[in-house]
Amino acid sequence: MTVSKGLENVYVAETSISSIIDSTLKYVGYDINDLIEQQVSFEEVVYLLWHLRLPNKAELKKFNEEINENMAVSETIITSLRMQHHQKLHPMSVLRTTVSMLGVFDTEAELDDGESVYRKGIRLQAKMPTIVAAFSRIRRGLDPIPPKKELSVAANFLYMLTGEEADALSVEAMNKALVLHADHEFNASTFTARVCVATLSDVYSGVTAAIGALKGPLHGGANERVFDMLEEIDAQSSNVRDYIQYKIDNKQKIMGFGHRVYRNGDPRAKHLRVMSERLTKEKQEEKWYQLSVEVEQAVWELKHLRPNVDFYSASVYHALGIDVDLFTLVFSVSRVSGWLAHIFEQYRDNRLIRPRAIYVGPENRKFIPIEERL
Ligand code: COA
Repeated sequence: MTVSKGLENVYVAETSISSIIDSTLKYVGYDINDLIEQQVSFEEVVYLLWHLRLPNKAELKKFNEEINENMAVSETIITSLRMQHHQKLHPMSVLRTTVSMLGVFDTEAELDDGESVYRKGIRLQAKMPTIVAAFSRIRRGLDPIPPKKELSVAANFLYMLTGEEADALSVEAMNKALVLHADHEFNASTFTARVCVATLSDVYSGVTAAIGALKGPLHGGANERVFDMLEEIDAQSSNVRDYIQYKIDNKQKIMGFGHRVYRNGDPRAKHLRVMSERLTKEKQEEKWYQLSVEVEQAVWELKHLRPNVDFYSASVYHALGIDVDLFTLVFSVSRVSGWLAHIFEQYRDNRLIRPRAIYVGPENRKFIPIEERL
């Protein structure tokens, strides 16, 4: 019996959704570098992940309509968001609870036939950006803005955050970020979703569980900590090398660096780096890109680690005007597409996921009645 701590290099399933081979990430066989170069829309990627092929024009039009028709959330959800914002909850906990609540109000929540499972997928995918944008406004004392039917997911999300239609570069940046975060093989939150629904639990439970896993700083929660770090360096006017060296000497993790699977760099990071440079320049927030580049250089020289997807997404989201503690929620708006694709795949060929553990605790202990215990 051998243990692979953290399941490193353990293959637990076959999947047709995405692959990471030799540091190349592909969605259903399409290299993400090509998808980004071709300016693919996030909606096309969602369709690809769910149907395992790209849509034609008519199919994409219908899919966009289905998403748009399901974007609005009920007054009950808005009321619940208003109640949750008074508490000192992390916004990811608010999202987790709200997605769970969507299930409570979905009359199809407990149905498990393929068509109703797919319809629940559409509703979840469509409503996530609306929930995040509404929460962002409510806690600023503003009223939520309903989605506009004619806008893409990326444009609608930015519109619902600010109340104004975003400029072309901002929409491009948001769309690219959504495309790059959509799926990533058996990452921790996706695996969580699959473990959950492999018990034949429902779609809402699977996505709620996945949000809980994404929240952690070793996974999606890293993007928020990246910006905290940049702000700390900026506020203290620290020398970047000294700051990074201090972290290394004190065995602290540098957020946005390193990866379990990619040892030679995350292929998504370079696209976000380019976008960070363009967008921060346009928004006169260049100092965050420049500081990020300095951090990247220092981490490479001092620890030989490369940035992952979370590193440059932080300055991109900041330049888009998104609050730092909402960064991981933006990640969820995209990754829910991958979670749902994996949930569908798991249901199609299910087997309970139930690994083993090697027991290393005490053996053969004699029970002592409570009255006799010291
Ligand atoms: N900062 C400093 N050191 C790091 C590091 C980081 N971000 N990532 C890895 N390392 C070091 C570890 O300290 C360890 O060094 P050691 O052998 O000298 O002790 C070695 O690299 C292996 O790290 P480990 O944490 O065991 O790798 P892992 O595969 O379990 O972890 C991550 C992968 C992603 C959890 C890890 O790189 C990390 O914590 N990164 C920061 C959080 C982050 O950005 N998460 C988002 C991932 S997309």
